[in-house]
Amino acid sequence: MLRKPVFFVGFMGAGKTSVVRRLARIAGSASVDMDRYIERRCERKIAEIFAEEGEAGFRKVETEVLRELAAAGPQFISCGGGVVVTPENREILKRSGFVVHLQITAHDAAKRIRNFERRPLFGDLDNAERICEERGPLYEEVADYTVRTADRSTGSVAYELRSVLRRKGVLWLRKSS
Ligand code: S3P
Repeated sequence: MLRKPVFFVGFMGAGKTSVVRRLARIAGSASVDMDRYIERRCERKIAEIFAEEGEAGFRKVETEVLRELAAAGPQFISCGGGVVVTPENREILKRSGFVVHLQITAHDAAKRIRNFERRPLFGDLDNAERICEERGPLYEEVADYTVRTADRSTGSVAYELRSVLRRKGVLWLRKSS
């Protein structure tokens, strides 16, 4: 059982969605992907929201959704990579639960990303490297625990995090699991 919301932050391609899905399964808890949630709520793809309302429009919805999810009770929440650029979001993250930073370089992320359409801000590698560097301190500012994901399987990261969350008293499991 989860005792508070657990938010996952980190650069695009760090593995937030896959790790959250796996962790939810092995910990028997609910999970939600913020970008999917935003798409359902706006009835539009992320790329369309960016094209029609710009980054500012997307960030506005992102904050509304983060506020909502932070108040929705304990679950694993996979956040979009840019959630930390909005100061209000960083405050929400810090006060509402436990934050895991999945750390990756833009170079390693580029090798893993399949769907660039959902990530209009990734751009070319130079651009991605610049954004990744700018955001590094912001991810660290909100993180309660950081784990590097390059060259690691989803399962190994998820099992490590399950132990960490148990140790920190954020996750309670029945003895048999
Ligand atoms: C963004 C990351 C994306 C998505 C949007 C903006 C960012 O999510 O929210 O394209 O600014 O880094 P992922 O981190 O899941 O790719």
